[in-house]
Amino acid sequence: MTRVARRTRSYFVIAGAATLLGLGATAGWEVARAQHVHSHAPAAEKGWLVRLAPDARTPAIERQLRGFETTMAEVAYRYTEMYWGGVDGNWGYAEHMAHEMGNAMTLGLERRPQYRKNADALFLKGPYVQVMDAIKAKDPDLFKQRIETMRAACTACHAAEAHPYIKIGVPTVRRNPVVND
Ligand code: HEC
Repeated sequence: MTRVARRTRSYFVIAGAATLLGLGATAGWEVARAQHVHSHAPAAEKGWLVRLAPDARTPAIERQLRGFETTMAEVAYRYTEMYWGGVDGNWGYAEHMAHEMGNAMTLGLERRPQYRKNADALFLKGPYVQVMDAIKAKDPDLFKQRIETMRAACTACHAAEAHPYIKIGVPTVRRNPVVND
């Protein structure tokens, strides 16, 4: 290669590199601009979860789902409404509430498996099934009798799980404005 040819070649190499750098810089600037525009959105527009670092999100969701206390608040609500459904002879409503109560408890056990043993033994495989049977039989006397067994089971599980002061009675107050006419 002659000197001139070598020089010309270097010129093209340098020019090519500069073009590539230029393209890269432009692309980089576009990205930066996009991020810039994005970060100008008010903080409130991004939800609290998205604002967390990705690996902090799952633990945050677990914290927010809470433990067995929220399960129990739902169980107590559905237990109460199931009771009034039976008292009113609104068996469809009673069955709906019983079904959702069992569902709530089962989902709660997914979060807190340490309660599964007593939940199954004292409740889900015993009094729960019996109350459900009384509802399906539409038998008011059997229903009231089995509610007694159920509330004793709720109380027994609380005693077994270090909450002996949560004693469950027969409901006295309705929670929902559901009527039977
Ligand atoms: C697995 C056994 C078990 C069974 C069965 C059970 N509970 Fe519980 N319950 C618990 C435990 C454990 C707690 C405390 C949870 C906590 O604080 O994390 C609790 C707490 C409660 C609370 C207090 C909730 C709150 O706001 O903190 C209520 C009300 C309650 N249960 C109602 C009931 C009713 C009604 C039944 C039956 C229909 C029932 N429970 C059946 C274990 C059980």
